[in-house]
Order: sequence, then structure tokens, then C-alpha cells
Amino acid sequence: MPYDTLLSPVTIGNLAMPNRVVMAPLTRNRASQPGDVPSEMNAHYYAQRASAGLIVTEATQISRQGQGYFATPGIYSDAQEAGWKAVVGAVHARHGRIATQLWHVGRVSHRLLQEGGAPPVAPSAIRARDTQVFVKHDDGSFAMTDADDPRALETRELPGIVLQFLDAAHRAMRAGFDMIEVHAANGYLLHQFMATGTNHRTDDYGGDIGNRVRLVVDVLEAVAGVMGANRVGIRISPNFTGFDLRDDEGEASSLHLARESRRIGVAYLHVAEGDWAGGAPLSDGYRRALREAYHGAIIVCGEYTAEEANARVERGDADAVAFGRAYIANPDLVERFRADAPLNEADEATFYGGGEKGYTDYPTLDEAKRE
Ligand SMILES: Cc1cc2nc3c(=O)[nH]c(=O)nc-3n(C[C@H](O)[C@H](O)[C@H](O)COP(=O)(O)O)c2cc1C
Repeated sequence: MPYDTLLSPVTIGNLAMPNRVVMAPLTRNRASQPGDVPSEMNAHYYAQRASAGLIVTEATQISRQGQGYFATPGIYSDAQEAGWKAVVGAVHARHGRIATQLWHVGRVSHRLLQEGGAPPVAPSAIRARDTQVFVKHDDGSFAMTDADDPRALETRELPGIVLQFLDAAHRAMRAGFDMIEVHAANGYLLHQFMATGTNHRTDDYGGDIGNRVRLVVDVLEAVAGVMGANRVGIRISPNFTGFDLRDDEGEASSLHLARESRRIGVAYLHVAEGDWAGGAPLSDGYRRALREAYHGAIIVCGEYTAEEANARVERGDADAVAFGRAYIANPDLVERFRADAPLNEADEATFYGGGEKGYTDYPTLDEAKRE
């Protein structure tokens, strides 16, 4: 069988997975309005992809404050929780497994998305230059616009951020999610705290690596307290350079976080390699250091083919591999890998926003044969 290592079973935390192919978190801006509520269409999309070893949902804001784009789903209202329960139910009905990715965007936001037009929050009042967010104007029109000037969070507000994650974890558990993935990657709030360029704080949450990583550790401990650490993962992106994020100590701080994750008993570490469009590759030395620092499962993601993914797992660098754009276009990605069949191409024009087109209408192999 081609890719037999990638297609072999694995247990991550307490979750037995039939294969090591993970659906990467993918923002699609298709939550129903008003209220950013997951819909039946969203449930259908995830259920179509249920043969993945594990689905990680699109990033899901834990509060209004944590939102940076129009029509991304939340997990802070009763309606959103009910919407997610239906999504999880649809995936479980197809014998799949699903984690939610809990998200706070921090400074990658705009007043137009915030409660009462408040400024977005961040570790320090430093605007993300050359960064666009997706907003709805008062006249109902939509536009990409520059990220706003954020305000720095006060030290006394930080327990409130942890509480937002905690409340979301309770809702995720009630909705039936198999796992929670804490989003500490891609230049959003938790990453902003970890990175030297975005965190100029002088309290216990800024300065050296231990301090910069502290909020992420607080969040992990809180979420693990709700879900059980063996049902919690964390996503990091040590080489990410988007959204004007600069981190002079990205590898070192992520290794510190890996050691803390090991102490807490976190089930998996999900490493988004480079940027989506490439970015610096992880060095072999770093991959080894990560394995030494952390003893749970490692999931990697970023421009992998099935062949490369299989080789990565065979080499022992990772336990599973997540696929992003390939999963947008191939609901039956696992079956295609198993058959060594060609993949559908993803249409970038329909990545963000819209309806069924470019979302639930990519054909499976069987459907393509019937046409
Ligand atoms: C349309 C789109 C939306 C994405 N949304 C998220 C997201 O919500 N959370 C996240 O951590 N990464 C997100 N990413 C990054 C992907 O999870 C993944 O790391 C990236 O696409 C590289 O993997 P690939 O080469 O297999 O596509 C997104 C990527 C794309 C293309």
C-alpha cells in the first residue's frame, strides 16, 4: 500500500485514530449571520471530511474581543455551542473525530468587529503593519481593511483572557468535541505574547522567555483542567513572519513551551511549518530538539505531499501530518491517498466567504467517476 505509515493507526492522547492524516484548521468565513453561528452547511462540510484521522476545525473565536474577521464562528454564545454540537454530531455520525481550535486574534482585528467599537487588545500597543482584516461597514458593505491600533492589556485583565479560554473549553466539552487545540500560532494573541517584536511588557508576562510564554501556559493549564490534558493540543508556528510578527527567539520560546506542555501532559503539539506560502523550513536540529523537549505526539503541517508526509512520519520526526489546502479541495483525502489517486485543485477565490461553491461541492473520487 502506498503511504502505509501515514495511513497506519495512531493514538494521540486518549484518542485512537485510524490514520495519521489530519485536517488542518482552515478559516472559511462561512458562519451563519447574525451571531457567527455554525450552520448545517458547516456541519455537512466537516462530515464530508470525517475519514481524516482527526479534523481540527477552523479557528474559532472565544469572545467578540477575540474576533478579527467577519463570519468566522465563535464559541461563546449558546447558539454557537448548539451549532457546534450539531457539527460534532454530524462528524461522529460518520465515525470521525474532531477538535476545536480556540482562537483570540489579539491585535489582528479592527474596531468595527469589536463590542462597542472598542480598540483590539494586544500585549503591547503596537499596530500590525501591512496586515489586513475583513470587516463589515455600517452601511452593510464588506471590505479588507488595515488592522487597527490595539491597546495594551492591563496585567489585571489577563485572568480575564484565561477565563475566555476556560469558558470556551467548557462549551467545547459540552458540544462533544474530542479534543481542544489552543491556537498559539500564526501571529494571533498568544503568539503575540510569545514573540519579542510584539511583547514589550514589563510585568510578569513580558521580558524573558518564561514570562512571554506564561500566558500560553496559564491558558493550557486552564483548558486542561476542563478537558483533561490528554484531550488538549497546542498549535505553534516558530518560523511564522506574517501579520508583521517578528520573533528573535521563536525556536527557543517554542522549546520552552514544549517543555511546559510536557509537564502539563498536553496530548499533541501541532507545528505549522513556515508560512502558508513557504517561509523558512524547520531545521533538523530543531525537530530533534522538539522531540527531546516534548514527549507527546507531534503533528506537522505545511505544503506536505502524501509522499513527504509518509517519509516524515517514517523518519520519526512526526506522528501525524496535517493537510490544509488539499483538504479544502478533497473531502476524501484519505481515500485518495490510499488509492494513490490524483487530487482536486483548490480554488483560492472561494477560500474565504460565500456558500456551498468551493466549500461542499468538491467531488469525491466516487462522485467524479459517476460524472
Ligand atoms: C484558507 C486558509 C485558512 C486557514 N485558516 C487557518 C486557521 O483558522 N487556523 C490555523 O491555525 N491555520 C490556518 N491556516 C493555515 C493552515 O492550517 C496550514 O498551516 C497551511 O494551509 C499550510 O498547509 P498546506 O500547505 O497543507 O495548505 C489556513 C490556511 C488557509 C489556506
